[in-house]
Amino acid sequence: MEITLQKGDFTTVEAEAFVLFHFEQDDRLLETTAAVNDAVGSIIGQVIEAGDFRGEHLEHFLLYSQEPLATKRILLMGLGKREKFSAHALREAAAQSLRTLRDRRQPRAVLPIPLDSKFPLDLEDTAEACVLGGMLGQYQFTELRTRERDKIKDFDSLIILAQKETTELVGSIDRATAMAEGINLARDLVTLPPNLATPTMLAERAKDVAAQFGMNFHVIQKAEAEKLGMGSFLAVAQGSEEPGLMVVMEYEPSGEDKPPVVLVGKGITFDSGGISIKPAKDMDRMKHDMAGAAAVIGTMQTVAALNLPLRVVGLVPLTENLPSGKAYKPGDVIQSLSGLNIEVINTDAEGRMILADALTYAERYQPQAIVDLATLTGACVIALGDNVAGLMSNNDTLQARVEAAGEKSGEKVWPLPLWDSYFELLKSNIADLKNVDGRKAGAITAAVFLKQFVPEGVPWAHLDIAGCAWEEKGSPLVPKGASGMGVHLLIRMLQEWEPLGRD
Ligand code: BES
Ligand code: MN
Ligand code: ZN
Repeated sequence: MEITLQKGDFTTVEAEAFVLFHFEQDDRLLETTAAVNDAVGSIIGQVIEAGDFRGEHLEHFLLYSQEPLATKRILLMGLGKREKFSAHALREAAAQSLRTLRDRRQPRAVLPIPLDSKFPLDLEDTAEACVLGGMLGQYQFTELRTRERDKIKDFDSLIILAQKETTELVGSIDRATAMAEGINLARDLVTLPPNLATPTMLAERAKDVAAQFGMNFHVIQKAEAEKLGMGSFLAVAQGSEEPGLMVVMEYEPSGEDKPPVVLVGKGITFDSGGISIKPAKDMDRMKHDMAGAAAVIGTMQTVAALNLPLRVVGLVPLTENLPSGKAYKPGDVIQSLSGLNIEVINTDAEGRMILADALTYAERYQPQAIVDLATLTGACVIALGDNVAGLMSNNDTLQARVEAAGEKSGEKVWPLPLWDSYFELLKSNIADLKNVDGRKAGAITAAVFLKQFVPEGVPWAHLDIAGCAWEEKGSPLVPKGASGMGVHLLIRMLQEWEPLGRD
């Protein structure tokens, strides 16, 4: 999709459709909508007056324009009630507009920035929301389709029309593009099938990102992991023929010497459960057990593209979890990088095993904060449903930042408690801790397990994205499939980052 910014006259700009917004039951038209309405003999006003279009959120109405407009159609898109409006609502409306036009094979639209003295968002945020929403809603994965007819034709061109000075809007459009590209990269990585998206292949993609955006890049392979003592990570990796590895990406803008924020993403490229094997039904879905890893790679790309003035490190442990003659077994006791011995009760609780060592590894950066993302537990899906991430943290300030960022990005996160009393459930008879207990408080006990490996005093937040990494139904901004959950949220959090002290 080509995005161009144009200044000036809405009558001469040419495309298949004009997108115009309207608030629900607003007795006045937005000024841009009103200007077009005046030019085309009040046909928009008539549609609204007749009650054919109310402006409910995502409601649309298509009508034919007329002279002097060069653009053939007008798509009215509802923004919903003014009181409920947000940047997220606008992103959804923009996404829905372009999706509607794409499905009608009208892949060129003009979207005038809703210029209005009473519009709740400023010009820059408005432009950003329109472009970001448009790009996210158009996402499709076509890499593996060989027949053209099975692909939806991409949207060709979006013209953002601004009445006022456009220079400041160039920045908004670039920002939105960088965000959408990071989110859509994460979606691609999650969608890729597990025979292709092996640890090695994902590391290659991460390496390309690092090279393109000038980040330090390093892969910890088996020999180095052994030397370091990453026993917990290696235990999971030993069941697979595909070599496991940990990707390290370091974004270090010049002149920034404060400690970094470390992002950690669970990268199980296929989770069969291992010896504690999963049932066959829907096992294919377990290719998305690297959605945390994908979110970290996508976020790193965007952080660098936006030149954020903050050091950020991405740690991505990648491996398959498979049963084999070499696989780790229930009953095994594994020494982790932290030195703690873990009794394996269930090999399907593999995410926490690989994250444990990644969290310990983070200590070498003396980080300001650590945020991990993981498709960690089915229990989190039971607790919060499909579209909400569980948030668990050892630090109130960091927790509040993640919640605020989720509000901004429109990704839902909800806190679960992390009292130390839950650790009772993880006491082992023979080792320092066991990797699971029964089913009680499953999302929390997983987080309490991780907490044992978080370097002393470091603010840490854990997002269990098991439910929301994969979108079952599809929504305006998230086409069915990989959601890219977490990238947008992390970007919003990092954009406004203030130094955070260790305890
Ligand atoms: N990757 C799964 C969790 C998961 C479930 C992600 C559904 C996405 C959708 C994880 O490795 C796992 O298998 N967890 C077990 C933990 C149990 C053995 C304590 C689970 O949730 O059943
Ligand atoms: Mn598992
Ligand atoms: Zn898993």
